[in-house]
Amino acid sequence: MRLITLDKCEPGIKLGKTIFNENGNILLAEGTELSSGLLKQLKKYKIFTIYVEDEESEGIEIVEAIPQELRTEAVNVITEGLNDIASLSDSKGTKLRGMVRTERAIRSFKKIFKDILSCLSENKAALNLLATTKVHDNYVYMHSVNVTIYSCQLAIANGLPLKNIEEIGLGAMLHDLGKLYIAPEILNKPGKLTKEEFEQVKAHSELGFEILRKIHEIPLTVAHCAFQHHEKIDGSGYPRGLKGDEIHKYSKIMAVADVFDAVTSHRVYRPAMLPHTAIELLYAGSGTHFDNRQVQLFKDCVAIYPQGVTIKLNDGRTGIVTEYNFKAVGRPIVRIIKDENDQKIPPYELDLSTSENLSIGIAKADAIL
Ligand SMILES: [Fe+2]
Repeated sequence: MRLITLDKCEPGIKLGKTIFNENGNILLAEGTELSSGLLKQLKKYKIFTIYVEDEESEGIEIVEAIPQELRTEAVNVITEGLNDIASLSDSKGTKLRGMVRTERAIRSFKKIFKDILSCLSENKAALNLLATTKVHDNYVYMHSVNVTIYSCQLAIANGLPLKNIEEIGLGAMLHDLGKLYIAPEILNKPGKLTKEEFEQVKAHSELGFEILRKIHEIPLTVAHCAFQHHEKIDGSGYPRGLKGDEIHKYSKIMAVADVFDAVTSHRVYRPAMLPHTAIELLYAGSGTHFDNRQVQLFKDCVAIYPQGVTIKLNDGRTGIVTEYNFKAVGRPIVRIIKDENDQKIPPYELDLSTSENLSIGIAKADAIL
């Protein structure tokens, strides 16, 4: 199985992974041969990449740290829960009903987080949340799930006690609550935001915090995740321009997870960034935008070159990533499929962690994302 951009798919290609619709029902099952009609339909859904089964990638299995079913369930829980909590502040319904709903939402958040945590604790796969097979219109919910998964893994890497990890999980699920009050036209605007629009988007941190801090069951540190996740180490963030250790550790973790997921996610107006480029972006902002240590720890949490991705080595050979190397995440095991002259050859495996002179030159965008 490999990851491929939709515009490179020829009719007749076999789908490698099931694609689900918004409600978690199967839209297209794995193994389906994609006709030109089906490919067109996928384009309409704004899907940029899919996993396919082809001869060159036969036998490559994608190991998922979090099964698709659990991610879909988490998106549903978060969608319902965030809307319940957001409706607390509108005038509809009684205060009591709002409180009951909020309690229910928090209970279900905690329950689903337990499942995510136990998956991450058991699983040794590096995080690869790319090319989600879930079609979802509303980016906020899926983003909240991904930030929860990344933050949780990073919290584990920090060696934090369970209580802290659970608080970070809850904070991540709730961090963008304030976005539910911002017009979708602004949130999904393809072009640059006007100054006024940007001010409206920025308000989501404080809006979320103001709601969360009044909820009895939510610790104040959790509410602060909403307040502080856009603060930057050098004080250039918002809303308060906090610096260095004025920013809570939970928010330092979440800032890294938040930006990584934002840039590696497909949006209707732009394709996703590759993970290795996203990591470079985090490094570029390390010590100024992001906490140094969190960036360092995060790079070992994610699959920099995910399985199924096509790469080109510095000597010109082309291959597909088959497995991670946990001791050298930037040097996976690859299946070489083309030689230095771009000629197809009988495939063979190459472990980049034992080939010091070789490195990944480019991760070919046309075949990846
Ligand atoms: Fe945010």
